[in-house]
Amino acid sequence: MYNFDKITDRRGTASLKWDIRENVLPMWVADMDFETAPEITEAIRKRADHGVFGYSIIPDEWYGAYMGWWKDRHGLDIDKEWLIFCTGVVPALSSIVRKLTTPGERILIQTPVYNIFVNSIVNNGRFVVESPLIYEDGSYRMDLERLERELADPQTTMMFLCNPQNPGGIIWDKDTLARVGEMCAANNVLVVADEIHCDLTDPREEYIPFASVSEVCRNNSITCMSPSKAFNLAGLQSAAVMVPDPVIRHKVDRGLNTDEVAEPNAFAVAATVAAFTKGGMWLDELREYIYSNKCIVKDFLKNEIPSVRLVPSKATYLLWIDCRDVTDDSKDLAWKIRKNTGLFLSNGVQYGKNGEGFIRMNIACPKDLLKDGLDRFKKGIDMYQEGE
Ligand SMILES: Cc1ncc(COP(=O)(O)O)c(C=O)c1O
Repeated sequence: MYNFDKITDRRGTASLKWDIRENVLPMWVADMDFETAPEITEAIRKRADHGVFGYSIIPDEWYGAYMGWWKDRHGLDIDKEWLIFCTGVVPALSSIVRKLTTPGERILIQTPVYNIFVNSIVNNGRFVVESPLIYEDGSYRMDLERLERELADPQTTMMFLCNPQNPGGIIWDKDTLARVGEMCAANNVLVVADEIHCDLTDPREEYIPFASVSEVCRNNSITCMSPSKAFNLAGLQSAAVMVPDPVIRHKVDRGLNTDEVAEPNAFAVAATVAAFTKGGMWLDELREYIYSNKCIVKDFLKNEIPSVRLVPSKATYLLWIDCRDVTDDSKDLAWKIRKNTGLFLSNGVQYGKNGEGFIRMNIACPKDLLKDGLDRFKKGIDMYQEGE
């Protein structure tokens, strides 16, 4: 049994999330307040104890760790040569955009979605095609007819697929993924599947790797994977890009090398190997803990803040909360909650225009912090409704 109730003080560690004013409770950026699996810390400590930190290579164990994990956990057979190390998913996305599209082309994203997708597109002089998901009866689905029209534009050459979807916590089903794969292939649109959240499904829920759906999906896709979300290792900068097609793979490989994001720091490999070979039990307990946090939030919102609704989800520790009965201005709402209570949440509109009126809450924290966050949330909504 691992102890997820333990509060570890993160202030003073140069943490993006926690090196902030006293009394601010951050529940925004997607990193967790739990210490990582002790098996991983042990591997890092062992590496640190060695004391020599020269240049690193990618050893066989790194490939084996990804291959074994994806086969056992996700039923996907990966060939060793499909995998390329990268220092992060966002560095990979940006590099892939630069190498496999040209300036002025259009890259499709399905909103609401991880906001940094937009940066990787716009900062490289490409245009965003914002294809909104349909939100109906409290859940999201793809608008496949609209998607088909948008993919048919010859200037649209790439699609970022977020699977599972951040911020909605949606696990895409096989039929939907197959349809996306067919439509993209038919229109020469390359799919970049960001699967960074794939290990954070609710207990007994499984995600479906895009590349596992069909040959069409496999051969026309690049998949980004990493232990960083599931094992809380974002600061170690370790990810992988999986590219089954050899021609696309060669280009991605050259792009990552040219952008100098294909080499690991001295701890990245040891941590990744430990996560994927020894972290399974810890992860399964973590998923239970996050799920129980989600149930607490669901009950609390229902009983204490009936003016907001939790969007049902099956993955990630990010909750997507519909506050449209309170306001249509989520920036203002998030800002006033922060000003009045110190609770720091993500405003929904940064994930796309249809995120307006929503708030994203990161619940990957010990229950005492969660309860503090919920009390502050209630106070913040009450004050907002009173015009403060
Ligand atoms: C969907 C998604 N992709 C990528 C990232 C960041 O990846 P990395 O830290 O490896 O660049 C995040 C972080 O929240 C994310 O939610």
